[in-house]
Amino acid sequence: MAAIIDGKRISAEIKEELKEQVAQLKEAGAEGTLAVIQVGDDPASGVYVRNKKKACEYIGIHSRAFELPASATQKELLHLIADLNADDSVNGILVQLPVPDHIDEKTIINAISPDKDVDGFHPESVGSLTIGQPGFVSCTPAGIIELLKRSNVEIDGKECVIVGRSNIVGKPMALLMLRENATVTVAHSHTRNLKDVCKRADILIVAVGKKEFITGEYIKPGAVVIDVGIHRDENNKLSGDVKYDEAEQKASMITPVPGGVGPMTIAMLMHNCVEAMTR
Ligand code: GUN
Repeated sequence: MAAIIDGKRISAEIKEELKEQVAQLKEAGAEGTLAVIQVGDDPASGVYVRNKKKACEYIGIHSRAFELPASATQKELLHLIADLNADDSVNGILVQLPVPDHIDEKTIINAISPDKDVDGFHPESVGSLTIGQPGFVSCTPAGIIELLKRSNVEIDGKECVIVGRSNIVGKPMALLMLRENATVTVAHSHTRNLKDVCKRADILIVAVGKKEFITGEYIKPGAVVIDVGIHRDENNKLSGDVKYDEAEQKASMITPVPGGVGPMTIAMLMHNCVEAMTR
């Protein structure tokens, strides 16, 4: 039976450390402000935005919420971002995704100043990560590294298989694992013999967005399994991309859903906000 990697506990630990750091920065005269922009009223985005604001309050930084109607134009949004880029009292800017269809996500991400890009989505942030220069790192993959390190999982020299190649999780995850000296494979929908590829993994990171896609058969005995997925069924029960009951029989350590990777994303966003404050 696998040991549980407790993301709830670890994220609380990180937020506690950040709260302390913010108090010290404030004593030295610094202030932190995160601008959170939401366009439209997608209920899931609303929950994420509320949780982000709550986390800011908890660690002691200000949050400024900008709620634009779904009818807001791309021009209006770009205008707001330009104002916030120029505003010295704002150190972090975040546009909650997805944005409505008439707004081009890439154009919006590119408009945020890389110095304030606390999501780590700007091409300059991604480029810096690629060549090992300082910059903001995408929060979910950064959170997974923290989960592994704080659970004493050795990464150096290990076989790591990442299932999924999104810009937000899979690709930056591969770069971070490479930085930690893992041997990295990125598998995706065109990968042949996915089961065999996954079975090579000492550390298996799953971000495919398909409910319980990875069964026990994909897991090498003793592997560490990280499940990024989150799915809600008609009874409001949450599950991940990994079939937990089977995986926990094979893995040595595993993240649950909920309470695994999820809480780490906001903790690492707060980490990036504190970094923005110290710049
Ligand atoms: N939508 C889903 N996840 C995220 C995230 O990490 N950041 C932003 N800005 N939007 C999201």
